[in-house]
Amino acid sequence: MKVGKVLISQEQIQSRVKELASRISLDYREKDLLMVCILKGAFMFLGDLLKHLSIPLKIDFMATSSYGRRTKTTGKVRITKELEVDAHGRHVLVVEDIVDTGHTLKFILDYLASKEPASLKVCALLDKKERREVPINIDYVGFTIPNVFVVGYGLDYAERYRNLPYVASLVEED
Ligand code: PRP
Repeated sequence: MKVGKVLISQEQIQSRVKELASRISLDYREKDLLMVCILKGAFMFLGDLLKHLSIPLKIDFMATSSYGRRTKTTGKVRITKELEVDAHGRHVLVVEDIVDTGHTLKFILDYLASKEPASLKVCALLDKKERREVPINIDYVGFTIPNVFVVGYGLDYAERYRNLPYVASLVEED
């Protein structure tokens, strides 16, 4: 497999990230914000968002894995890295790179809700709506994308391509 067409350019991503960061800065001013980055895919998105956020906040990381993901979705998700900062009473914003079937986020939201945060919202760079199997409300969306396999800007294929500054499709090598 190799990188195909660029679907979302570096410029498009950076300008959208700035817009999202302005909205988040406004919505969370004077609130005790805890941003929860879902590893690994969301690391680059979080990093870029942070550079444009003008409010005080805390950051933490969680990781999950699911069985047979991207080939056969079972919806079975498990936590591989727990949250460390106490979410109780805080305004929690989950940062994801992509929402596909929605099973991962549904699991993460249920888990975080059990910590009794003051509020719980979602910011996702990519929304692959067509593939949704469970309803998920995304409060801040970067881009809605079609049902194609994408890599770059944190997203991988067999752990490669996460470093690309743009989002591209993946094609068969000839
Ligand atoms: C991706 C992505 C989401 C999830 C979305 O993570 O970051 O967490 O899949 O899929 P879903 O909506 O169908 O549940 P992945 O498991 O590929 O891990 P990674 O971020 O470490 O690459």
